Amino acid sequence: MQASQPPSPPHLRYSRDDDMPETFKDLLSSLPSEEYWVTNSLSLYQGFWFPPWILNCVLTCQNHFQAQPSDVLLVTSPKSGTTWLKAILFALLNRAKYSDSDSQRRHPLLTQNPHDLVPTFELKLYLEQESPDLAALPSPRLFATHMPYSSLPQSVRDSNCKLVYLCRNPKDTFVSMWHFFNKMRPEEKGQIPIQECLDKFCRGVSSFGPYWDHVLGYYKASSEMPEKVLFVMYEQMKVDPHAHVRRLADFLGCPLSEEELRDGTVEGILRMCSFDNLSALEVNKRGKLSTGQESKWYFRRGEVGDWVNYMSAEMGERIDRVMAEKLDGSGLKL
Ligand code: A3P
Repeated sequence: MQASQPPSPPHLRYSRDDDMPETFKDLLSSLPSEEYWVTNSLSLYQGFWFPPWILNCVLTCQNHFQAQPSDVLLVTSPKSGTTWLKAILFALLNRAKYSDSDSQRRHPLLTQNPHDLVPTFELKLYLEQESPDLAALPSPRLFATHMPYSSLPQSVRDSNCKLVYLCRNPKDTFVSMWHFFNKMRPEEKGQIPIQECLDKFCRGVSSFGPYWDHVLGYYKASSEMPEKVLFVMYEQMKVDPHAHVRRLADFLGCPLSEEELRDGTVEGILRMCSFDNLSALEVNKRGKLSTGQESKWYFRRGEVGDWVNYMSAEMGERIDRVMAEKLDGSGLKL
């Protein structure tokens, strides 16, 4: 299996295994690991698989991040639609600042990729600095993470901050991930064999996987603490995005007023954050994230059920069987 590493802009603390602190290398050498595409390897830490340099950022975040009660944290498994929900949450929480047509023309989503506007703990904030200064950020602070529930910093679990978990059908998530890895790796290496990628996924070996344990951790938390964790499905958002924006606003304690419901505020947010709009913006067509990835990698098709174009029925059934077995008794069906 070929391995390569993502480009590493100079300001990042490390994105190559060699750059990591010695103490962390000691921990790493004690963990089970598997070969993996793009990130070279994944390491199993407390039941979940992480690329090593990301695990180091997860541990740094656990040690340093201090949650505030007004914080909002978007959590996803990679390729579940993070980009879309980052945009929606950003637009929703900042809607008062961009309510008239003049300010709408200056809306940050028109010139910045959602991943730069809503930073991810382990892929940006704690990758760029060991202890970023977040205390001065305006409230409510909006962050994102792929960390499993059990890996969240203690202060996130202890504080009254809110968590929005976005879950996507595992077959579409898997295919989206396979495409993303293919884009990240040098063209001359060719496509990653999808069957090999599927074998690992079904054994639970994927970035921040096992996928089912990631989902279950938040599903359980949202059942036990519905006022703290909101569990949202990508597919349901696609069916009725309007209702979901209202649900998000209610959950985050910033419900839409009667006037906002009448004057098209929700429609404006959805238009701004739509796949067609965001993917056509210059910043997302040709720009790069501050962490080096091409913005366009985050916009592929944005559809439900696209997996059928890349996987056989048998491959799909295999994921269904694994999910049915792993989610059995949880009350969740994917
Ligand atoms: P596909 O590869 O199936 O097209 P993430 O943001 O978690 O990395 O997930 C990426 C997936 O979300 C990709 O799915 C991408 O096309 C889709 N996506 C990005 N922006 C979207 C939007 N505005 N609406 C719906 N889906 C979107």
